[in-house]
Amino acid sequence: MIPLADVHCHLLAGMDDGPQDWQQAVAMCRIAWDDGVRAIAATAHQNPRWPEVTPQRILEATIELRRRLEAEKIPLEVYPAAEVMIGPEIESDFECGRLLSVSNLGCYLLVELPSGMFLDLRDMVTRLLGLGVRPILVHPERHPELLHGAGVVEELIQRGCLIQVSAASITQNGNSRVTEGLRSWVRRDIIHLIASDGHSPTRRPPGVSAAYGRLAEWSDWAKADRICSINGMAVLEGLPIETPRPRPRKRRWFTRT
Ligand SMILES: [Fe+2]
Repeated sequence: MIPLADVHCHLLAGMDDGPQDWQQAVAMCRIAWDDGVRAIAATAHQNPRWPEVTPQRILEATIELRRRLEAEKIPLEVYPAAEVMIGPEIESDFECGRLLSVSNLGCYLLVELPSGMFLDLRDMVTRLLGLGVRPILVHPERHPELLHGAGVVEELIQRGCLIQVSAASITQNGNSRVTEGLRSWVRRDIIHLIASDGHSPTRRPPGVSAAYGRLAEWSDWAKADRICSINGMAVLEGLPIETPRPRPRKRRWFTRT
């Protein structure tokens, strides 16, 4: 199997609602490694609920995690990252260095919508790109306006936004409408990255291999490789990603009664 990349996994002990201690954090890394993940973003929330999470703390905790993985002989490559909640200050916070980009390279920023809320993100995408950083919208499938709204996510992509879907949404969401929406997104080149958004060794464990297999079923192995490995490795290393233009939805010529 191709080495998998996970660009969004909460791995820093006691930092947010991820692992509560280093033992859990290392156990999560072992799960990711056994799943075939070879590079992973140790991600922490940056939002009003966790005001004490700063880029400096994430960077220091990532170094500590690397040290512990080396001691445990788990050769997983770990990169620092933040999952930033979108708010009115996001551009100024980024400019002032209060937000951590992926791998602290200034190229990509993981952003999430506030829970249960949908906002028009078009201007934010353009402004962040103007500052030199490409936003990656994480788990947009949680928002029906994005998953089912005609042309909404497509316009964000055309402006330069990347789309990261949670692995569990692909494999175990239990909602056939969401599954259909995601299958359509895969086929229409809407999804650029898959990540575990892992939070603990048990409750929300890391791992993307099951989603990788499902993507290949829905589309083909080349696309699964791009979404679960090649694009993720590029993001973690701060390298550019070429994204295909999203394909239009299939028109429904009649509806069932
Ligand atoms: Fe997350």
